[in-house]
Formats: sequence, structure tokens, C-alpha cells
Amino acid sequence: MNNSIDSLLYQALEAVPLGIAVFNAAGNIVTVNSSLAGVFGLAVHDIRGKDIEKLLLEKGIPSNHPLFQLHTGKEYTGSADPLTSYYPSYVSTHLIKGNCGEIQGGVLVLWDAKGRQELEQAVLKAERLAIMGQLAAIALHEVRNPLSAIKGFLQLLKRELMKTRQLEYVDVMLEALDRINNLITNYLRLAKPGTPERQPCDLVEMVTELVAFYQAEFQRKAIRLNSSYPSHLPAVSLDREQFWQVLVNILKNAVEATPPGKEIHIRVESLKEKGAAVISVQDTGPGICEETLTRIFDPFFTTREKGTGLGLYVCREIVNNHGGEIWVSNNPDQGCTVSITVPCCFL
Ligand SMILES: Nc1ncnc2c1ncn2[C@@H]1O[C@H](COP(=O)(O)OP(=O)(O)OP(=O)(O)O)[C@@H](O)[C@H]1O
Ligand SMILES: [Mg+2]
Repeated sequence: MNNSIDSLLYQALEAVPLGIAVFNAAGNIVTVNSSLAGVFGLAVHDIRGKDIEKLLLEKGIPSNHPLFQLHTGKEYTGSADPLTSYYPSYVSTHLIKGNCGEIQGGVLVLWDAKGRQELEQAVLKAERLAIMGQLAAIALHEVRNPLSAIKGFLQLLKRELMKTRQLEYVDVMLEALDRINNLITNYLRLAKPGTPERQPCDLVEMVTELVAFYQAEFQRKAIRLNSSYPSHLPAVSLDREQFWQVLVNILKNAVEATPPGKEIHIRVESLKEKGAAVISVQDTGPGICEETLTRIFDPFFTTREKGTGLGLYVCREIVNNHGGEIWVSNNPDQGCTVSITVPCCFL
């Protein structure tokens, strides 16, 4: 019985990915596995009975190292250098005590810390990135206020400059400001997702407002806009500000994809059987290739020179937080359609 336990324990010592030595109160090694014996350049049967401290000294561990303080009751965990200098590893010593607390011996454990080191580095990197993200979010938040002031004054200037050549410059500046604002809003949404603050919203009214907002953009690109709405759609429970951002991102993508003179179709439908409302934006652009389709919701994935790749990622976050779904599919003839469903509490 004892023999079989001994042999099982020996096999266990061999099986674990550690170097282990057990020694008595005098410091003589009682048992050791081949992994640790190998560190001392000895075979298991040659190392038994040897003085652990002597072996450590021979390996170049200085005599004042805390590894030598176990007999005073001080256990140690730390770098195994110079015991093993060829890979990052840790060593620890542990006391074996009798029933009355008397020291009966000790255990020395050596382990490869490569995985642990990689993990520590990954945690440090993640912490650094989180701090950078927070700083960027604070900075961008502060940038938004002066931007609103600039936009307000540019709009006033626009009125003054009606019918002059400079009007065109103001329009370019306003467009650039809108782009920056959109980028900031998406970034802040990414940094602080936040739970939606819902209230009953008239989806049709919201879409109509959005279309009016982008009227100048449609005219500038000579894009025709068709829209179709249900005769009656009960209020939908939405965070208006967040959902506005979803619609802006999708409409902007459609406008960017659609060539001048072509059209975009916005549809709002009521799916009574599913208790949901569906909004779809159908464009007549080039459509999306299979490979891109699998990645369009990935953060920072973009094929556009001036894109950030945050638009659709943010849309999906917001829609999912509302308990809805968003998907993109190519149209049979031309372009693609982005569809969103949102649960309608009042249908
Ligand atoms: N209507 C569309 N037609 C064709 N491709 C599209 C359309 N909408 C999105 N895409 C593709 O999906 C990618 C990701 O879109 P997303 O809105 O997330 O980022 P973006 O438009 O590139 O940049 P951002 O929205 O941050 O300015 C786009 O770069 C483009 O390749
Ligand atoms: Mg986009």
C-alpha cells in the first residue's frame, strides 16, 4: 500500500510542470523530481541526501539570498535568477511544520513564469490602454464645446455671406466640423457605452427630421431620397440621442456609397407579429464584398480613406443595448441595405 502511494506520489512529482525538492530539517534532500535535479545538472538518485543550501551556493546564489532564510521561518517567492537565467522563472520555498509547529523540513518549488510574465505584460498593456482611452475621451469631450461655438458662428457667417463666393468655403468648413463631431460622438460612445435612457419616441418623426437635416447634403450630391412610412406606428421606446447617432451613421454610409444622381430609399415598417419596428436604409452604391461583410461591425474596420471604422460598431452596440438587431445585406440588383429592428413595446 505504502509502496504504491510512494510510487504514485513520485509519478505526480514527475507529472507536474514544476521543479520540486523536499528536504528535511537538516536541509538534506529527501525527494526531488527530475526537472529540478536537471537544474543542478544531476540525476535524481545522485541528488538525494545532498544539502540543498550547498547546491544553491554552487549554482551561484549569494549566501545572503532570502532562499537561505527558510530555517529562520521566512518563506520566499521571487525570481529564480541566477538559478535559471535562460528563461523567466520563479522559485519559492515553503516550510513543512509538525503538529506542534516545529520545523520538520521544507519544499523548494521552481516554475517557468513565461506564461505569467506574458499575462502580467498583457494586464499592464490593457491598463495603459484604458488610461489612454479615458484621457482621450476627456480631451475629446472638452473639444466638443469650442466646436459647437465655431459651428454656431459659422452658421451666422453663412447668412451674412449668402450669394457671395466665400459661402462655399463656409460650407466646406461646416461639413468638416460635422465630420469631426461625428467622430467624437462615436469615440465617446465607444469609450463609455452607457445604458440607454429610453422614452417613447415617434420613429417616423425622427426619421423625417433626419432626412430634413441631411437635405442639403442630398442636394449637394444630387442624391434622390425616397422614403416610405407606415400609416400608423405606435411609439417605440428608445434613447433618442443614441438612436439618432445610429441613424446618422447609417445614412452617412449610404450617402458616401451612393454615386451622384442615384438614390437612397429609407423605409420604416411595423412588424406587428414580432412586436417590432424595422428601419431600413437601401442605397444604390457598389454593395459590399463577402470578405468585407464579415468584418463591417469590427471596431476600426474601414475601407474608406477618411473613415474611422467606428460607425457600424457603435450602431450595433446601441441597437443591441435596445434589445434590437442590425444586419447588412447586398441588394439583388445594386447597392446594399442596412436594416434595424427595435422592439415596439406599444404595438
Ligand atoms: N452602405 C455601404 N456601402 C458599401 N460599404 C459600406 C456601406 N456601409 C458600410 N460599408 C463598409 O463598412 C465599413 C465600415 O463602416 P463604418 O461605418 O463602421 O466605418 P466607416 O464608414 O469606414 O468610418 P466612419 O463611419 O467611422 O466614418 C466601411 O469602411 C465600408 O467598407
Ligand atoms: Mg461610417
